[in-house]
Amino acid sequence: MSSPDLRPKVDLHPKVRTVASTQSEKTEIVLPNDTNMLGHLLGGRLMHFIDLTAAMAAYRHSRSNVVTAAMDHIDFIRPVHLGDLVTLKSSVNRAFTSSMEVGVKVWAENTRTGEVSHVASAYLVFVAVDEQGRVQKVPQLRPETGDEVRRFEDALRRREHRERESVRRSEGKLAVAALADAEEKR
Ligand SMILES: CC(C)(COP(=O)(O)OP(=O)(O)OC[C@H]1O[C@@H](n2cnc3c(N)ncnc32)[C@H](O)[C@@H]1OP(=O)(O)O)[C@@H](O)C(=O)NCCC(=O)NCCS
Repeated sequence: MSSPDLRPKVDLHPKVRTVASTQSEKTEIVLPNDTNMLGHLLGGRLMHFIDLTAAMAAYRHSRSNVVTAAMDHIDFIRPVHLGDLVTLKSSVNRAFTSSMEVGVKVWAENTRTGEVSHVASAYLVFVAVDEQGRVQKVPQLRPETGDEVRRFEDALRRREHRERESVRRSEGKLAVAALADAEEKR
């Protein structure tokens, strides 16, 4: 007779996840290849680090393939210098149906003085997709602390703002197309 499996059962696909379970972190050292003529970390390189660190949180929340749907509101607060250590921390702020808003905060550490400063923050939206690129449902997110609840509520306001902006851009494009059409017919 085989002995019973007494290991605790872990639900790998819960319907609700906590913010803590999505928290992710990455640290990089700024090398000459990452910098501009002034020895400052390139904005594009930092955006790459931000995208990767945010994706880690989205993977942890969805346990699915994810794609970056939007990267908005990046504040580059102060430059990061050659030789600094850059630490990025991310977590999911809110999950919707198939999309998740992820917040990323970035700090730079001067390796000689040990001084640490907040250098950038960003919000990104990831969408869970299957192997064929079809959108997939994601678990809901349960905020637990006061800060998590605040970010959860702010994420809904940012989503509504993104949607309004998207409609505004589409209307702008339609108006430009109509003008070009009218010009052509003249
Ligand atoms: C993101 C993508 C999967 C959305 O596909 P779609 O056919 O527009 O899907 P839907 O209209 O059904 O929207 C699906 C979700 O994406 C969200 N979404 C779509 N476009 C978005 C955008 N530009 N910004 C924020 N969210 C967006 C929708 O709000 C929706 O969220 P919800 O399910 O939580 O309500 C598709 O646009 C895509 O594949 N884009 C390219 C992604 C990519 O290549 N990224 C870079 C490399 S990873």
